[in-house]
Amino acid sequence: MLFDRRPKIRGEDFYDRKEELQLFFKGVEAGEGLIIVYGVRRVGKTSLVYVGLSELGIPFIPIDVRGFLVDLSFLSPQILLGVVGEVLKRYESYQGRVEEFLSNVLEYVESLDLGMLKLRIREKRGELPTKVLEHANRWAKKRKTRVVIVLDEAQELRAYPRWRDLLAWSIDTLENVTFVVTGSEVGVLSDFLKLSDPNSPLFGRARLEIKLSKFSREQSIDFLKKGFNEAGIAVKEEETEDTVDKLNGIVGWLSLYGYYRVTYGLTHVEALKRVEEDAAKLLASELEKIVKYSPKRYIAILRAISLGLKSWSEIKHFTEGVAGYIPDNRFNSLLQNLVKYSFIEKTENGEYKPIETLLPKAVEMLRKNTE
Ligand SMILES: Nc1ncnc2c1ncn2[C@@H]1O[C@H](COP(=O)(O)OP(=O)(O)OP(=O)(O)O)[C@@H](O)[C@H]1O
Ligand SMILES: [Mg+2]
Repeated sequence: MLFDRRPKIRGEDFYDRKEELQLFFKGVEAGEGLIIVYGVRRVGKTSLVYVGLSELGIPFIPIDVRGFLVDLSFLSPQILLGVVGEVLKRYESYQGRVEEFLSNVLEYVESLDLGMLKLRIREKRGELPTKVLEHANRWAKKRKTRVVIVLDEAQELRAYPRWRDLLAWSIDTLENVTFVVTGSEVGVLSDFLKLSDPNSPLFGRARLEIKLSKFSREQSIDFLKKGFNEAGIAVKEEETEDTVDKLNGIVGWLSLYGYYRVTYGLTHVEALKRVEEDAAKLLASELEKIVKYSPKRYIAILRAISLGLKSWSEIKHFTEGVAGYIPDNRFNSLLQNLVKYSFIEKTENGEYKPIETLLPKAVEMLRKNTE
């Protein structure tokens, strides 16, 4: 089914992305030690990785880093890699039935009794993360395969510099282990891996980068048509076009729209309204994490951009009108942070604009929540 809320696992449910998948296959088969999949929210990063790995049919360990955020201490390599040994044990009994393996493992990782895991790992205090990886490497070598360790939403690991050392070491030493990391461009490439920082252990290391872009207008229309066809539902051309105009090529929102129409029988207007609300809520909750450090100024900048102001000086003028005088360097750093976290972008001619069409709605929600 093309219209589904969860990340895709099977190739037949996954629309297009042929080039990116080919690149992914080649990377794993060539034995890359590090593959980075990045792109904006809901663009299909997790799906690409799962579909790619299940088509390849090789063992992998999916770790959604966000799942460990309940307790920050779980983000240490030692704790997270504790999962690796457990999952490899399970893989044996699912040989060849990747889908079944994955759903079992995902359930296991999601419902992981974190307290238990922590205790178990504490008992093995002496066990270094490198030992766990060496074990995974030996395990794969013996079976003439590779082990892929997926760190989904890896940017959350940015506070743990040891991960970079561990990844660099793994790339250099472990022939049969591949790390796949996903996240937003700035989050994962720059904040976590620090690939362009000469002081980072990963600087200059071999890796494969796969960028997922938004769908084009044609692809988006075709995606909706195929999804509705598959569900046996006739939808008016102008509704499809309106949806594509409003949801801006982000497949996660397009498929959610289709899901609401097909599963709950919502009308075009109702489904679009719900998706816009869901999308704006998600965006607002992510903005909140950044904006809280300087709410008045950030919200003023975001409002200016939402209103369609584009140049640096127009945005600054508006912001100062609302939040009072701001020194240039302070203003710049706030603006750059919004670019850095993929909320706004700077165009080639130096103008600022929202990345998602729903930014204005999200900013309004945020304003209401913070007032
Ligand atoms: N190529 C595709 N074909 C069909 N559906 C897709 C495709 N890519 C993603 N989806 C759907 O879009 C939604 C978002 O996908 P996914 O979770 O993989 O994206 P993501 O970029 O990892 O999102 P997030 O930023 O929340 O981590 C899911 O419902 C998934 O089923
Ligand atoms: Mg994801």
